[in-house]
Order: sequence, then C-alpha cells, then structure tokens
Amino acid sequence: MYDVFDLPERTFPGGFLWGSATAGHQIEGDNVHAQRWALERRSPHMEPSGKACNSWELYRRDAELLAELGHRAYRLSIEWSRIEPAEGRWDDDALDRYVDNLTYLNERGVRPVLTLHHNTHPQWFDERGGFSRRDNLRFFERFCERVVPRLADLVHAWIPLNELNISTKPGRGELKLNMVRAHGLAYRLIKRHASAPVGTAHAYTVWMPRRAHDPMDRALARHLDAITNEFFFHAIRTGELVHPRVAGAHEPDVRGSADFWGINYYTRTMADARSADCTGERFRHKRLRMIDRPFYMEEFFPEGLIAACERLSDRPIHVTEHGVSCDDDRWRIVNLALHLDALGEAIAGGADVRGYLHWSLMDNYEWESYAPRFGLCACDRETFERTPKPSAWYYKDVIEANRTGPDILRRHLDELPTLGG
Ligand code: BGC
Repeated sequence: MYDVFDLPERTFPGGFLWGSATAGHQIEGDNVHAQRWALERRSPHMEPSGKACNSWELYRRDAELLAELGHRAYRLSIEWSRIEPAEGRWDDDALDRYVDNLTYLNERGVRPVLTLHHNTHPQWFDERGGFSRRDNLRFFERFCERVVPRLADLVHAWIPLNELNISTKPGRGELKLNMVRAHGLAYRLIKRHASAPVGTAHAYTVWMPRRAHDPMDRALARHLDAITNEFFFHAIRTGELVHPRVAGAHEPDVRGSADFWGINYYTRTMADARSADCTGERFRHKRLRMIDRPFYMEEFFPEGLIAACERLSDRPIHVTEHGVSCDDDRWRIVNLALHLDALGEAIAGGADVRGYLHWSLMDNYEWESYAPRFGLCACDRETFERTPKPSAWYYKDVIEANRTGPDILRRHLDELPTLGG
C-alpha cells in the first residue's frame, strides 16, 4: 500500500472552498412524493430510505455540525417533490423550510452550494415520462422559476442537475441530452435572478481498458468515455449535442452554460469488451474490500483526479464530491490524504481548482442501502445523533491549516490499516 506518511506538504490557494456534500433524498427522510421512494417500495432488493438522517427535522443541527467541523461550504439539494408534491400544487411551507435551512447555514458562515435536482424528482413527473420527453422540460423550468428567485440571495453557487452524464445503458442518449437541455435552461434562468456562479456536478469516470493492450477493450473505453464524459464537455463548450444513436442538435442555451466544472470523482472503472454490461472486475491485487460486500468503491485511483483537472483546464474547477465508503474510518483518512495530494499536484501543475466538497458530511442512504458508509460523521439510525469520526477531525485540521502534510496526518493516523480481502 502507498506510504501516505511520505507525501509532501501541499498548500492550497487562498480562499479555497473546503466543505462537504449531501443530497436531499439521502439525508432528509420521508421523501414520500419522490419517484425513488416509489421505486424503493416496489424493488425487493432495495432497502427503503425511511427516515434517512432525519435532516428534514434536523437541518439546523447539520449546519451547526458543519460549523463545528470548520466547513466553509456545504453542497445540499432541494427536493422538487416536496415543493410540488402533485402537478401544479405547491407546498410553500416546504420552500420556507429550505429558505430557513439556507439562511441558517449562511448565518453560521457555511456557504450553500445548491443542487436543484439530485437524482430525484416528483413521482407525478416520472409518470409523465420525466426527462425522457422533451416537452416535459417545461415542468422543470416552472419548478426553477418557483424556487430560484426565492433562494437567489442565499446561494453561493448553483448546480442545476447532479450527474446527468452518468448512464451507459443503451437507449439513454435522448434522456441524457434532454437533461443537458434542462441544465442549459436552468443556467439561463438562474442568471436572470442571481449573480452566483452556476456549474456542474459531473460524474467523472476514468475508463481504463481492462486489458491495457487489447484493441476491443481500448475501443470500448474510448466509447464509454465519449458517451459519459466527452459528449457533456463538448455540449457545454460548443452548444452542440452529440451522442451516438441520437440525432445531433445545436442548443444555444447550452453553449457556455457552466461558470465552473464541478466534478464528482471516486475511482476508475474497467472497460471490458467481454462482459455483458461492459464493465470488468478490478484487479484483485489492487482491490480494497472496505465493506463486507462488493461495491464499486474498492480501489483508490487518485491519478484520475489529476487527469480530470488537466482535461478541464478551460474553466475553474470545484470537486463537488469525492469520498470513500469504508467501515474502518482510517481508510477515509488515507483516501483523503492521497486525493488531496493529487489535487495539490494538479494545482501545482496549473489547474485552477477553487474548492473541494467531501462526500459526505455523514453516513446516509446510498440509493439502495445503508451499508456503504461515506460519512465524516456517523449517524445513529435510531436517535439520529451525529458523531464525528476521526477523519472529520483530520479534515478539520487540513481546512484550518489550508494545507496537507505529514505532521497533520500523524496527529490522526498512527499506521496504515491492513488490506481487506
Ligand atoms: C452521487 C451520490 C452518491 C455518491 C456515492 C455520487 O455518484 O452523486 O448521490 O451517494 O456518488 O456513491
């Protein structure tokens, strides 16, 4: 394993925006009008989200926790399905609660980075076909019209939609391009009401051929990169929507519709042309079993973060998510040290990185299960008490010093944890 104690000191630029990230459905609880709630009910393999971290009640506690841990920014999302639970029926109390949440964060010196759509939307919208139908964009636009003017003064940076680029499934091109259109229209709309920057939360997947020399794996890796990464960067840079199997289009609203590149970065993925779903097993000699079940987060690949920063050099960059699911919190400290070092290297190489938001503030609902734990803090599933883990104190020291280094690391980590099987 890598010797993290040997990593150099890395100082970050002045005003660097340190913080953490969550999403509404994953922490609020009882998000009963969302399409994911309905999906959890009809899918036996999914654990229901239930009360999650009960942040719908405890959001003020979350703001206090962020302040205690020294976070200067917090990425959170609002739930459209709470604000418009039925088509055209608006719940002003829900919006008022988000206003209070954002106000309280600001008062505690934590700057809100707000996502308008983080994988969830109202069930009624889903039943109408969601983003797969272009004429449904008017519903998303109407939602944005409702919330953006109300929240405009409270938000430090905006992210219209989380990870709209991610799908590799056949037949999803039209859906993804409609979500790019939704991003473009939200960008223009926000610009009419607010001066804060608007960016992305791009799921940055580094696709590697499973067999480095194999022409089919290499071709597949390039293809997967094109349909998850490049189509999106190209759309934002030029306004041209290009995706295999979908008629190309030009969208003036999309051109230039990001003031910063926000990237969610976790690890690399193997492209395997001999596997039915295109993705291959990790190399066993590199695999870290950090929870007791197979999970995509089983390898550290900080190099990918450097590659992403190099590729996106045409705009300021924010890491809008990065983290690790592990039961032994020491892995989180190791993972943080490695990736902050990589980020420092990218910055030293000229990348204009402005912030880093760790996924996640606390253990939360990981879309179908509570087993993967990404939190800097634990969250008791009965009492909802939040308890910072050692990694939260390590991260706090990094934030305060605005640098990494072996001295800070040694205060929080005695030795490297042993490898999982
Ligand atoms: C998503 C989060 C998720 C995290 C960890 C990201 O893809 O935006 O909602 O919990 O990864 O898997």
